[in-house]
Amino acid sequence: MVTRENLDSVLKHRVGLKGPMATPIGKGHRSLNLTLRKELQLYANVRPCFSLPGYKTRYDDVNLITIRENTEGEYSGLEHEVIPGVVESLKVITRNASTRVAEYAFKYARDNGRKKVSAIHKANIMKMADGLFIKCCREVHEKHPDIEYEELIVDNACMQLVKNPAQFDVLVMPNLYGDIISDLCAGLIGGLGLTPSGNIGANGLALMEAVHGTAPDIAGQDKANPTALLLSGVMMLRHLTLNEHADRIQSAVLGTIADGKYLTGDLGGRAKTSEFTKAIIDSME
Ligand code: IPM
Ligand code: MG
Repeated sequence: MVTRENLDSVLKHRVGLKGPMATPIGKGHRSLNLTLRKELQLYANVRPCFSLPGYKTRYDDVNLITIRENTEGEYSGLEHEVIPGVVESLKVITRNASTRVAEYAFKYARDNGRKKVSAIHKANIMKMADGLFIKCCREVHEKHPDIEYEELIVDNACMQLVKNPAQFDVLVMPNLYGDIISDLCAGLIGGLGLTPSGNIGANGLALMEAVHGTAPDIAGQDKANPTALLLSGVMMLRHLTLNEHADRIQSAVLGTIADGKYLTGDLGGRAKTSEFTKAIIDSME
């Protein structure tokens, strides 16, 4: 359960680092993750994804950021049964939410020396909903003419991502596409054990979390890869402009992975979570 107290605590401290929370499939309560995002208006979900030095995958040169609209779209939770056998699920796209996430994406590109923003959509089919989303992206681009801008239809974007991920830089998209594409991108660099994320709101509010779920099949076995959560902590430190601390932890994590002696099972190693973590800490001394 997410209590008023939890929400107030994040609101008071302005930052948080959270672990994954399970969401029932096809029934039950609304996702607690979504409750947090919606209640706190954490409107942009930022998911950096880069090839890890020394950890070989099919690609060596992934270095992209997905920025996902985080409060509406297909995740509005507005579903009902019209008559038995017919349900409707409403996808809500607003000018306000689309513009603020597009603004965040262009600002992110500018602040981080990125060159291109790609807007992902399916406006050939959802002409009004995704049509509005890309219209807002275009309007925001007009204010940032020095940053390259392109639009890709989501299915083509998936194909391009697996074919040549190095062509992408910053990607901005509605909620569901962001959920799917961020997992796809995690797969390009070695899996969900590696990718951090930040849920960003107004006035410095931010809640960091790993992109992965609760992995109940390996709970309590000292097997999970803590990298995604550690790098989410690193994102939190950067958000607080504690860059030196962030750099120190990030290089220890990446160095331990590159070293290859203590890898968790998802990366093809045999180390336990605790052994991998100890190796990271030892390398910082
Ligand atoms: C994510 C997760 C969540 C989502 C789930 C757990 C509700 O997959 O953060 O990507 O769909 O947004
Ligand atoms: Mg997801």
